[in-house]
Amino acid sequence: MPDHHDGPSLRETAEPRRLRVGAAVKLPRRGRPEPEAYWRVLGEQFDTVVAENAMKPRWTQPERGQFDFTAADPMTTFAAQHGQAVRGHTLAWHSGIPDWMKELDPQQDAIADVLRDHVHGVADRYRGRVFAWDVINEVFDKGGWRDTLWRRALGDDLLPSVFRWAHEHAPDAELFYNDYGIEKPGWKIDATLAEMRRLLDLGVPLHGVGLQCHHTVHDAPTESQLADVIGRIVDLGLKVHLTEIDIRVPTNDGPATTHYDQQAEVFGRMIRTAVAFPAMDAVLFWGFTDRHSWVPSFFEGWGDALLFDANFEPKPAYFAVREAITTRPPAG
Ligand code: G3I
Repeated sequence: MPDHHDGPSLRETAEPRRLRVGAAVKLPRRGRPEPEAYWRVLGEQFDTVVAENAMKPRWTQPERGQFDFTAADPMTTFAAQHGQAVRGHTLAWHSGIPDWMKELDPQQDAIADVLRDHVHGVADRYRGRVFAWDVINEVFDKGGWRDTLWRRALGDDLLPSVFRWAHEHAPDAELFYNDYGIEKPGWKIDATLAEMRRLLDLGVPLHGVGLQCHHTVHDAPTESQLADVIGRIVDLGLKVHLTEIDIRVPTNDGPATTHYDQQAEVFGRMIRTAVAFPAMDAVLFWGFTDRHSWVPSFFEGWGDALLFDANFEPKPAYFAVREAITTRPPAG
C-alpha cells in the first residue's frame, strides 16, 4: 500500500492552486489526549481547520452571558503553530445550542438580542483569525423554512440580521450560508439561491455558500449535478466552499474495505468537479480519520467515511482526492 509520504501532502498539492484543503477537528476530551499521529497528520496534510463542535453555541456560550472558548482554543493555537487558516462553524444554528437557549421564552426574552449578542461575542473573539464563517446553518427543511426559535422571532430579517451582526465584529471574514442536501438540483437549492439573491439585493454582506456534502457512496451527486449547482451559485457572484465532505460506506454487509475503491471514485469525482471552478476555493472534510466521525453514531450500519483509516493510514480516497486536486491548474 502506498504511503502518503510517497508524494506531496494534500496541502502541498492545493496551495499552488489557490485552494485551501481542510479538516474538522474533534472536541478535546478532558484527560484523554489524541494520539500523536492525529496531530501529525492534521498538521502535515491540511492548511485549514474547522471545529467540528467547539465553536457552536453549546460550547461557546454554555451559560447565558458567559462565553467559554476553552474547547476551541487548542485548535486555534495548533493552527497558528502550523500555518493553518481557521474556518468558523457556526454562529447561528437551531442545533448545537445550550439548554438555556432551547428554553428561551418569546413572551419574556428578547430573542433577537440574544442571537445578536451571541454572534457578536463569538465573531469578536476570533476577529482577524477566522478567515471565513458559516454564519448560519440549515434554515430550510421539508420543502420550506425550518421552524426555529430564531425564524419565529426574526422572520424574513433572520438572515439579513445575522450576516450584518457577523460583519460588524468580523469585518475581514468571508461570510457563508451553509447547508446540506443542496449539492444536487432540487427545491432546496432553489430556495437557497432565492434567499441568497434576496440578501444580495438588500446589500447584505454575504460572500459564499457552503455545500456540506455528507453523502453515501450511492447517493452522491453526479458530476453534472454538482457542476450545475456550483455554476448557479457562482453566477450570483458568490464563492463556494465544500465545507463538510464525507462519503460513508456500508459497514454491515461484509468488509467495509470492499467499498473503498467506489468511495475513492466518489471523492475524486466530487473534488475534480468542484476544483474546476476558480470561485470554489476551499474543500474541508468532516474529520480525516475513521477513528473519529459523527457517521457511525448517526447512521447505523454506515461508517468509514473519511480519507484515513482508524490507524491514520491513507485510504484509496486519499490518493483520489490528491489526484483530483492536481486537475486544477496552478495559479499563474
Ligand atoms: O460533549 C458531549 C459529551 O460530554 C457527552 O458525554 C456526549 C454524550 O452524548 O455528548 C457529547 O456531545 C456530542 C457532540 O457531538 C460531541 O461528540 C453531542 O451529543 C452530539 O449531538 C454532537 O453531535 C455533533 C452534531 O453536529 C450536533 O452538534 C457532531 O459531532 C457533529 O459532527 C455534527 O456536525 C454537523 C455540522 O455541525 C452541521 N452539518 C451537519 C454535521 C453532521 O451532523
